[in-house]
Amino acid sequence: MSFQQQLQQAFFEQQISGHSIFIKLNDGEFVAKSSQIENNNEQNFYEWIQHIEGYEEFFSQYNGVVILEKNQEVSIQETINSQQKWLNSLISKRYNPNNKKYLLLENLTQNSQNLRILDLKLGYTVEKQSHIQRYQDSTSSKIGLRICGMKIQENNELVMFKDKHWGRTISVLELIESLKTFFSLKNRNKILKEAIDKIESLKLFITNNCKQVISWQGTSLLLIYRNDNDFKIKLIDFSNTKVNPESTEFNVEIIKALNSLQDIIKQI
Ligand SMILES: Nc1ncnc2c1ncn2[C@@H]1O[C@H](COP(=O)(O)OP(=O)(O)O)[C@@H](O)[C@H]1O
Ligand SMILES: [Mg+2]
Repeated sequence: MSFQQQLQQAFFEQQISGHSIFIKLNDGEFVAKSSQIENNNEQNFYEWIQHIEGYEEFFSQYNGVVILEKNQEVSIQETINSQQKWLNSLISKRYNPNNKKYLLLENLTQNSQNLRILDLKLGYTVEKQSHIQRYQDSTSSKIGLRICGMKIQENNELVMFKDKHWGRTISVLELIESLKTFFSLKNRNKILKEAIDKIESLKLFITNNCKQVISWQGTSLLLIYRNDNDFKIKLIDFSNTKVNPESTEFNVEIIKALNSLQDIIKQI
């Protein structure tokens, strides 16, 4: 699919983490995630998972590869708050209009503004040499969870933004405190129960349908709260995910990390 002039493009203002560039299309109908030419892992993953019935409950809906021609000046926001500052810095470092290949994904934020978004990287260990230390020195090695980004917005105001560098420095207790802050809602108990139930269903989905995934390294659980009737959890980021069609046993590490998250949510 190639999107030309008719599609309106803008940088995706709800991105809170990562090194990829996200372009919002048609005012947020979709997001397009930049895809490296030399690494097809994420595309391969989505092309595999999209055939599994019900995957959209736990993953962003995948709509194929798009070639984005830069059709106008992609608009950049003025620097007003810390998240926008982070995003503008990412764009100035990473946006390359010559990289035209993007994965077309469902926009999990549905274009809402007042959101709570938490990106939690799952897993205790990593193979990539340059990442080993950051797992060992952070909450990852202890509880299989690390905050890669967190944002709370209320009444169109940014109340809190934390980036991945902060997430690497905090203790387990601070991570638990951050989860408490994330869930400090009027209907807190209802949403906490929903979170536990949704994680339970996700674990079932993985054990029943994802035996071919031999490694989920780098994958995050994205938690998005819009209101009491709209809270979701989705797995994102499959640039290092490995699928082996021969594999017959599900990956234990991701289940352990999800159990750990459930245990923490139960005690907050
Ligand atoms: N489908 C999506 N809808 C909305 N936001 C998304 C979606 N996928 C990712 N994001 C946002 O982009 C950030 C980075 O995404 P990710 O896939 O982890 O990129 P990277 O591979 O660069 O780490 C997430 O923390 C989240 O804020
Ligand atoms: Mg990521």
